[in-house]
Amino acid sequence: MNTITILGIESSCDDTAAAVIQDGKLLSNVIATQNIHKQYGGVVPELASRAHQQNIVPVVDAALKNANISINQVNAVAFTRGPGLIGSLLVGTSFAKGFSMALNIPLIEVNHMQGHVLAHFIQDTLNNAHPPFPFLCLTVSGGHTQIVLVKDYFDMQVIGETIDDAAGEAFDKTAKILGLPYPGGPLIDTLAINGNPEAFQFPHPKIPELNFSFSGLKTSFLYFINAQVKLDNNFIEKNKNDLCASIQKTIIAILLQKITLAAEKTGIKHIALAGGVSANKGLRKALEVTAKKQGWVVYIPALAYCTDNAAMIAITGYYKFLAKKFSKQDITSTARYAL
Ligand code: KG4
Ligand code: ZN
Repeated sequence: MNTITILGIESSCDDTAAAVIQDGKLLSNVIATQNIHKQYGGVVPELASRAHQQNIVPVVDAALKNANISINQVNAVAFTRGPGLIGSLLVGTSFAKGFSMALNIPLIEVNHMQGHVLAHFIQDTLNNAHPPFPFLCLTVSGGHTQIVLVKDYFDMQVIGETIDDAAGEAFDKTAKILGLPYPGGPLIDTLAINGNPEAFQFPHPKIPELNFSFSGLKTSFLYFINAQVKLDNNFIEKNKNDLCASIQKTIIAILLQKITLAAEKTGIKHIALAGGVSANKGLRKALEVTAKKQGWVVYIPALAYCTDNAAMIAITGYYKFLAKKFSKQDITSTARYAL
């Protein structure tokens, strides 16, 4: 069979990314993270779109150079169609259309959430173990929290999801209450290492079946902090590590309770983790511990494939190319896009 080379483009939120995958193997993975949002405490959509416009050409250029391939070797371009910020998505979509038209190669649209799941199939020099079908994927990011029953590359069913905030938002919003900069998730992760996870207890939501809720946790955390700060102005500073460890433990417990229930209900013992929050060291460790108890085999991607990246878009594009699932030039970005 001929070599198949796919260029992947990701621009759904605040990372401009491009990657090259050849026959399923990763050749390059370039990402320009937009630091401009830090000073605003969250992603500013208008600024994100502008930064994507500045970054997209240099990022694609770097991805092709790092992969050591010429533009004419690319067989198809895959891009994130949604879900995400519409202004950000438009930049990647328009770029991909132009690229496909100029080179007369197929255009392939990718659902960002499907990309997070299929990140498990990226082959690189370090890891080539991927989960067998069917498996359960806990996708935890800044915008989504889903339990996905993955039956095949293109046969995925969301069997549980958040009814309000995503797990990443729970990290980011509680971090903000503690005065930490955006995104707070990685900072909570780091500070929690030196904290006592049993220092403070926060209520777990009572949501039926496999769905999640995190907004109540954020509110109870806010009320708790406000009350303590009234008594002692330095409460946060004095207890920062313990607060981070305690809130992280609660978020992890909520996630693990639901994935355990999902494993029980489906009888599936192959459990995968995806999305930005899967970079969390506490979650990765807790999942390994639970897996030992439950007899699961767990699949945790390398950090670079957990947070938003274009390698996951390129690998999804690769499987779509094999299945001849191409898109037309009149395709449009979509802010909401169900799996
Ligand atoms: O998948 P992702 O890069 O973007 C979205 O599609 O949302 O996920 C970003 C989210 C943010 O909420 C960020 O705080 C969280 O992932 N995150 C973490 C960690 N690294 C990133 N949360 C907890 N611990 C981490 N180490
Ligand atoms: Zn994502």
